[in-house]
Amino acid sequence: MVRQRSLRFPEGFLWGTASSSHQCEGGNTNNQWYRWEQQGRILTGEQSGEACNWWENAERDFAFAEQMENNALRLSLEWSRIEPAEGQWDGAAIERYRAMLTNLRFRHIKPIVTLHHFTDPLWFADRGGFADEVNIRYFVRYVSYAVQSLRDLCDFWVTINEPNIYAFLGYLLGSYPPGEHDVPRALQVFRNLIQAHVEAFYAIRRVQPQAEIGYCMHYHILDAANVRSPLDRSVAGIQDSFFSWAALHAAETGRFTFPLNLLLASIPHAPGARDYHGVNYYTREMVRFDPTNPIELFGRRFVRPETVRQDSGKEIDFGEIYPYGLYRMLKSVYHRTRGNKPLYITENGFSDAQDDRRPRAILEHLAMAHRAIGEGIPVRGYMYWTLVDNFEWSEGWGVRFGLIELDPQTQERIPRSSASMFGEICRANAITEGIVERYAPKALDFIFGTTNGAERQVAV
Ligand code: BGC
Repeated sequence: MVRQRSLRFPEGFLWGTASSSHQCEGGNTNNQWYRWEQQGRILTGEQSGEACNWWENAERDFAFAEQMENNALRLSLEWSRIEPAEGQWDGAAIERYRAMLTNLRFRHIKPIVTLHHFTDPLWFADRGGFADEVNIRYFVRYVSYAVQSLRDLCDFWVTINEPNIYAFLGYLLGSYPPGEHDVPRALQVFRNLIQAHVEAFYAIRRVQPQAEIGYCMHYHILDAANVRSPLDRSVAGIQDSFFSWAALHAAETGRFTFPLNLLLASIPHAPGARDYHGVNYYTREMVRFDPTNPIELFGRRFVRPETVRQDSGKEIDFGEIYPYGLYRMLKSVYHRTRGNKPLYITENGFSDAQDDRRPRAILEHLAMAHRAIGEGIPVRGYMYWTLVDNFEWSEGWGVRFGLIELDPQTQERIPRSSASMFGEICRANAITEGIVERYAPKALDFIFGTTNGAERQVAV
């Protein structure tokens, strides 16, 4: 009998999907994204509308997660539902979240709950949102209330999703609300979000001492277009340290690196304020020196044309499928933090409506996570973004990240082949040779061969 090759994951590894309230719930009309949609700012002109109808029936999709034997599911709370007006709390909203979390637990799925995933209540946005440091107290008050109300059902919290994306897309590149192009304000928002995380961390600690609490950052590989060009190398390095590492450093030490420290005040009590590092990783871009692009620190980002790519949005190029980047990022986060906390892959996903690249992409990224684990990096879970196609922010319904295809008009769902593959992986707690042969035989060599881990492309 020939023994099947396999990559086994550690006992208790968390397998699941990630999502957010505004992208899935439907009927969210009290946050700044709804207003943005009403103003016609979504590139396709679309709106979130009923989204995936989770406010009425998230349980229908939780059943798919159970069928895939997922043991975790990451979702977010909608602050604008819980606190629709300043200081007013909506008990019915809490009850709905209690029902969702209870349902997940009934299915043996551990809820991972994000407290802030890009959306702000209108009243908070109208007070200046996170651009104004004094507003952080509102966020912390909401966090305390939410955690007190749900602590018997959840003990794993993500305070804030991707401070860098929220600050830079909203305040620098302007594709997210409030659509500004203002460097000092973008930096201030970025800083205040890290402070908000730190304060929320201690607020949760007080209410629920045994909880696991962290935040997740978007880690984006930015490589020099031409490694022999010192200019390309230096702008890529500057963009990389600014986009991926400035927040991590500030959250770890409470201080910003030069030159940000000249502009941004340090953050009290930051060191130690997390129980894990949440890693969101999607893709890489190349960077070329461009003197005409000061707003992006004189670097021009682009996706290498010859790579295997995800489906593109109207404005955002979701770009290259680059599994080795996940390994690079896990290693980097681990070493930069001196291995002080476990890591969770809190998001990793691919826009692929045809599902003809996703199975292989998932397998190869998981192989890279496995390689990191083999080298002693404590990666404890993997959340695929996302369970069901959902409202993709400024891109509307145009790009499809789901394991399950959704028609938002009819609410009809069709599981993609990736969903059955993901189910097989979760059930086995491993990538087996049989799984790779069935879903993406071309990945066999990458996964089990000697090239495992070598920097190379996914080739079609
Ligand atoms: C965000 C998600 C988004 C995903 C795909 C992540 O940066 O957290 O909300 O849907 O990227 O673009």
